[in-house]
Amino acid sequence: MASLTVRQLDDKLKKRLRLRAAKHGRSVEEEIRTILRAAAADSDEFAEATGESAAAGARATARPNAKRVLLIIGGGIAAYKSLDLIRRLKERGLAVRVVMTQAAQAFVTPLAAGALAGERAFTELLDPQSEFDVGHIRLAREADIIVVAPATADLIAKMANGLASDLATAVLLATNAPVLIAPAMNPAMWSHRATRRNLGTLAADGVHSVGPNAGEMAERNEAGVGRMAEPAEIADMAMALLARDPEKWEPVFGKDHAQSNKGTPGALAGQRVLVTSGPTHEPIDPVRYIANRSSGKQGHAIAAAAQAAGAAVTLVSGPVNVPDPPGVTVVRVETARDMLRAVEAALPADAAIFAAAVADWRSADVHGQKIKKNAGGMPELALLENPDILATTAQRKRGRPKLVIGFAAETQDVVANAKLKLKKKGCDWIVANDVSAEGGVMGGDSNTVHLVTESGVDSWPPQSKDAVAAALVKRIARELKGDAS
Ligand code: C5P
Repeated sequence: MASLTVRQLDDKLKKRLRLRAAKHGRSVEEEIRTILRAAAADSDEFAEATGESAAAGARATARPNAKRVLLIIGGGIAAYKSLDLIRRLKERGLAVRVVMTQAAQAFVTPLAAGALAGERAFTELLDPQSEFDVGHIRLAREADIIVVAPATADLIAKMANGLASDLATAVLLATNAPVLIAPAMNPAMWSHRATRRNLGTLAADGVHSVGPNAGEMAERNEAGVGRMAEPAEIADMAMALLARDPEKWEPVFGKDHAQSNKGTPGALAGQRVLVTSGPTHEPIDPVRYIANRSSGKQGHAIAAAAQAAGAAVTLVSGPVNVPDPPGVTVVRVETARDMLRAVEAALPADAAIFAAAVADWRSADVHGQKIKKNAGGMPELALLENPDILATTAQRKRGRPKLVIGFAAETQDVVANAKLKLKKKGCDWIVANDVSAEGGVMGGDSNTVHLVTESGVDSWPPQSKDAVAAALVKRIARELKGDAS
């Protein structure tokens, strides 16, 4: 341990120390010790190095220009961990203000939260004192980030629907600051379709999320996914969001759409990527056709993200109403057979992603004139199977892309069906998603997918289609890099 000789300090400093010590009625040595102790309590590195972080967290006071966190505590058993979260946030030099829902107050008291935050906890929307004093609009504006922990199923549902019936929800509706939620609930509530749908909406709205983790629940004999993320995890995520550089931004959960669409700059430089997108239209006559539902949003987002990551991208698209992604070579097609031809023409490629919803069948005869309704009863429609573009490409003997990725839109047994499809088609990965009506994926802006590979299944949280695209491109870049080395 270094020793300090006061005599060797410069005269000006010595004079100031003597004056300060006299003012506080301490010896100069004691004054120096006091100054060092205060500096150490304020320094994260010092606190960690000395194993004092918890104690320092409770003592830590925010610096004058500290970033401000508004912590909204929802009403769940995990609320007790939110008290620790206040300390973790303060440890990281953040100023913390607390809002509590009414239900939260059944688990922890405003007094405890306020004492840890160093300022009273706010609880009422229609409290005249709060409204004159701070008010929900000021609470919303004066935050650099809002953290909702625990984010209960109820609070998530209210947020997704824009309710503003209490102070917490009114602040959330009034804010422009980034919002981070830390969901916590029973596993059955977490996996309920309504919660999935609400999380998808929040993801598309740009809300970020951390957790929940898997483990034991507070209820006896209950385990599964639903435990709130640990306070340190939440605090780290809040710090990462506060420090983010929009140019390098990778989504944590949802948009920012424009930003997440940028993907990881340079990660796919020099790579050729082929993407199929949209439906195919299989004509019956000049006005009628067979098609699968598809907006093309997910495929186009992947093409955009791959282009932004530096790849040379060819997008083979069926008829869609979404704009062409800039900087991408777009080949427009109508039918599955056209799509197959365009894909073959676009090879070779390093990675091929088949996001198109190709019609499985086409009409055996295509009538030159519109079939008349009453001409001899119901028309007979003979169908032929369309070529499987994904399987054809994946099973090529020569010129197979290094990475062939298919999509599997399923309405039931999503992962099991995707695993079967992986084998049957011979592709490397399947991105499986639940497109049952309840999920709201079709035509919507968010998606909940599972990445199925030979080595396992990765279930991603609900997120915007742009965020899925950026995350997928990141995985592709990692895979191709591994392949190249
Ligand atoms: O067999 P299924 O249509 O469910 O498989 C979906 C995957 O296969 C998607 O990646 C889709 O783009 C691709 N596919 C294809 N050609 C077809 C049918 C599906 O490329 N004729």
